[in-house]
Amino acid sequence: KRILVLNGPNLNMLGTREPETYGTMTLQDIEALVRAKADALDASIDWRQSNSEGELVSWIQTAGENADAIILNAAAYTHTSVAIHDAIAAIQIPVVEVHLSNVFAREEFRHHSFISDVAVGVICGFGADGYVLALQAVTSMLPRSV
Ligand code: DQA
Repeated sequence: KRILVLNGPNLNMLGTREPETYGTMTLQDIEALVRAKADALDASIDWRQSNSEGELVSWIQTAGENADAIILNAAAYTHTSVAIHDAIAAIQIPVVEVHLSNVFAREEFRHHSFISDVAVGVICGFGADGYVLALQAVTSMLPRSV
């Protein structure tokens, strides 16, 4: 099972970015947590971050060449990007939407996602554990042979 994990804008700032909302783990710390879980599940992880909407769109478009599923924290683009919505709609592999924070307990503008309706599921509010939960969920929904 090959899982592509995509992280959107400003997630490279985790650790020092609004720690009261996002915690103190860095993105590298979260990556290590996910890789440890992936080893236990016999899955491989391709971990990426970009501040660029277009780069995320390009990665989603070609994901199926090397990955069986995507875990996506599109960060602020979640609430703005029709392009990311359309890229997900254009591919065949499942996408799980993840957010560290509970976006529904925050500002109104975070309550709408352009990704949720094209995702197989959404996990938010559990911090870094959300990525691990997403990995567990998406690997168990893939066929055994993958
Ligand atoms: C986020 C939530 C988004 O609203 C925000 O723009 C982010 C991070 C989260 O992981 O909680 O950058 O996706």
